[in-house]
Amino acid sequence: MQLNKTIRSGAGFDVVEPSDMTTLCDFRDELLKRTGANSLDDLRGKVSQMPNSEVNQTMVNLLGFTEASSLIATAFSSTIKALCGDQLLLQRRANIIMNLPGENQRRQWPHYEMMSGISPTTFTLWMPLHDIDDDAGIFYVEKEESNHIMREEYSRGLVNSPQITELLGDRTPSRLKYGQAIAFNPFIIHGNVAFVSKLARIAVSIRFQSISDPIHQKNTDYFKSFYL
Ligand SMILES: [Fe+2]
Repeated sequence: MQLNKTIRSGAGFDVVEPSDMTTLCDFRDELLKRTGANSLDDLRGKVSQMPNSEVNQTMVNLLGFTEASSLIATAFSSTIKALCGDQLLLQRRANIIMNLPGENQRRQWPHYEMMSGISPTTFTLWMPLHDIDDDAGIFYVEKEESNHIMREEYSRGLVNSPQITELLGDRTPSRLKYGQAIAFNPFIIHGNVAFVSKLARIAVSIRFQSISDPIHQKNTDYFKSFYL
């Protein structure tokens, strides 16, 4: 109940814990099998040595890991049920995102998920595949401030402008332990910053909503029905 309130009408995001570690391990094992890595840190090390084109190709190849979103949704079933019940529309293909350390690497421009055409009742769960004890994670802007920035953007007639990035100022990404995730609503501005590390950042995200809510611009290419 509290989680639902926090994410829908409070800060807009919260740290959540998995309710099923076994399924999370199944996800990890399948990811390692598909990438030929011995461990998640081995995978992070390999990715950090790859040119950007190979990182991109690895992420594209992982779109074939079609069970990924179901495994993550099952691992976090308590959180998802609390937000949306047990009859869902679940993103068909989880995003497995790899970011390289250092300046001049691809970064997530500060954005909110509604920009991608999901409905106002679609939520996101983002989970790094390792501890985040430095600035390699994602920063989240609380609902009131996110709303303020969006209104400012609207009043100035801007979209994704450097002025808006300036408004955000310096942000500190959330620290997380492996297994923890952030669940957030589609109006929460978030992004990442350059980070220093020997290893790449690897994370997975899924989007989900109740099957009884409208799907806005998405369709069944994007969502599949899924019952917890
Ligand atoms: Fe995002």
